[in-house]
Amino acid sequence: MVYRNSENLTLCTRICIVSLLFCTGFSTEERSAFNSDRRRVEAPLIKSSDLDPSAAVFSVDSYGAKGNGVSDDSQAFLAAWNAACTSSSDSIFLVPHGNSYLVKPISFNGPCNTGSLTAQISGRIVAPADPCNWNPEDRTIWLQFSKVQGLTIHGGGIIDGSGEKWWAGSCSRDQNKVCLSVPFAFVVNSSSNVHLRDLTFQNSQKFHVVISLSKHVEVENLQIVAPGDSPNTDGIHIFTSEHVMIRNCTIATGDDCVSIIAQSSHIQVNDIICGPGHGISIGSLGKYNATDTVSDVVVNRASLSGTQNGLRIKTWQGGSGYAQGIIFQHVKMINVSNPIIIDQYYCAGSSRCNQPAPCNNQTSAVQVNNVTYTGITGTSATQEAIKLACSATVPCTNIVLEDISLQLNNGDTPSSLSANVQGSSTGQVIPPVHFSSPSL
Ligand SMILES: *[C@@H]1O[C@H](CO)[C@@H](O)[C@H](O)[C@H]1NC(C)=O
Ligand SMILES: *[C@@H]1O[C@H](CO)[C@@H](O)[C@H](O)[C@H]1NC(C)=O
Ligand SMILES: *[C@@H]1O[C@H](CO)[C@@H](O)[C@H](O)[C@H]1NC(C)=O
Ligand SMILES: *[C@@H]1O[C@H](CO)[C@@H](O)[C@H](O)[C@H]1NC(C)=O
Ligand SMILES: *[C@@H]1O[C@H](CO)[C@@H](O)[C@H](O)[C@H]1NC(C)=O
Ligand SMILES: *[C@@H]1O[C@H](CO)[C@@H](O)[C@H](O)[C@H]1NC(C)=O
Repeated sequence: MVYRNSENLTLCTRICIVSLLFCTGFSTEERSAFNSDRRRVEAPLIKSSDLDPSAAVFSVDSYGAKGNGVSDDSQAFLAAWNAACTSSSDSIFLVPHGNSYLVKPISFNGPCNTGSLTAQISGRIVAPADPCNWNPEDRTIWLQFSKVQGLTIHGGGIIDGSGEKWWAGSCSRDQNKVCLSVPFAFVVNSSSNVHLRDLTFQNSQKFHVVISLSKHVEVENLQIVAPGDSPNTDGIHIFTSEHVMIRNCTIATGDDCVSIIAQSSHIQVNDIICGPGHGISIGSLGKYNATDTVSDVVVNRASLSGTQNGLRIKTWQGGSGYAQGIIFQHVKMINVSNPIIIDQYYCAGSSRCNQPAPCNNQTSAVQVNNVTYTGITGTSATQEAIKLACSATVPCTNIVLEDISLQLNNGDTPSSLSANVQGSSTGQVIPPVHFSSPSL
């Protein structure tokens, strides 16, 4: 059954209700259990202490980089990295300030033998604009740091994916185009104790920063910028990683500011300024019947402006696993469409990109459990500010709404839609939400 709080339904809204949703709910005991300790997850191990000034410096310039933005500096980068990585002392891989370095797809691999290892990126690194610079068989990445234990990447530089040609050829822009694999711009893969900070990422081919198969990663003070209509240019994407802290990042792109998927846990996201973009997203989860698990996520203090979604959890029909132990708190919405949304009927790309249409309803779904929204304020760009569309067969459980105050741009009260949600509201919750039953 679908519940709405608004009496003022438009025809469109009615159609949407019929064609979408479901959900469920929550208890006082559960709630006080959260309230006791829900503010933080374990901090990563890396400290942001300053570098050892006695560290050996391996500058790409010393290994033959031209830094003119035109010559291919890839080999110089690899040689400088290999020297830094194999040096027995503390070492710094340096990309000097003031120059622009053209670098083709490259992987900086560990393990490294060093004491402390730092990549100081103070100059500008630019990707070749033309997709033909990638091996057609492997277009997964542009820049990657892989299998490194203990690394600080910082320096105030700019990492520019030169993504325009990729965007122009994107099948999400033109459904007649065949979907080609598009590289992630910057990947931290299979690594641990990585501290990524004080950098600007712009105009990535696809996602800007990807944390993949990694543990204990701290990401802070990043500026991530791409046009609002650039396809799939997520800001920070977390894939199968744990103990990741993201803080103080400004993200304005064409897709999710932060996205968290597939076997990730203990993720803390603090002080994010997001927009334009698609908001902060857990998922999508469960595509092609996958078992996905995301747990222990805290989003604390975010400001979202003009984004397509605010705080979103999206799962596909037919998946399994869970999204649970999630707290969204102290979030300011400014003209956000769908400020709070759980969509267990997520389905995208079905009619394009030669994908099969996996959109039919199935009996299994990724379980959404123990999600708290607290201190969410601001304006909704759409009438339906809260949408909790949970699965009929796998309802959402233990959903808590606390101190929510959302309004329309004209000051009117928006509406909510909920289906198959077990949970509860506490404090003032505007718009009010109907739960199909209290928490378990
Ligand atoms: C899936 O189920 C929902 C809820 O009953 C319904 O609104 C929607 O139309 C169904 N989707 C499909 C593709 O059958
Ligand atoms: C990331 O690391 C995993 C495991 O070490 C490896 O299998 C995978 O190929 C790496 N990803 C890329 C894009 O190189
Ligand atoms: C936040 O990041 C910006 C750069 O994006 C930096 O200038 C500022 O000092 C950082 N603030 C804190 C508190 O670290
Ligand atoms: C997912 O499972 C359903 C039900 O068993 C099946 O019909 C469908 O083909 C499966 N989809 C994929 C992509 O494996
Ligand atoms: C709900 O999630 C929070 C945040 O991850 C966690 O601290 C709490 O223990 C969970 N509650 C239950 C009952 O699992
Ligand atoms: C709100 O966002 C919509 C697009 O989502 C835009 O058309 C509208 O102008 C914005 N309104 C304000 C007040 O910014």
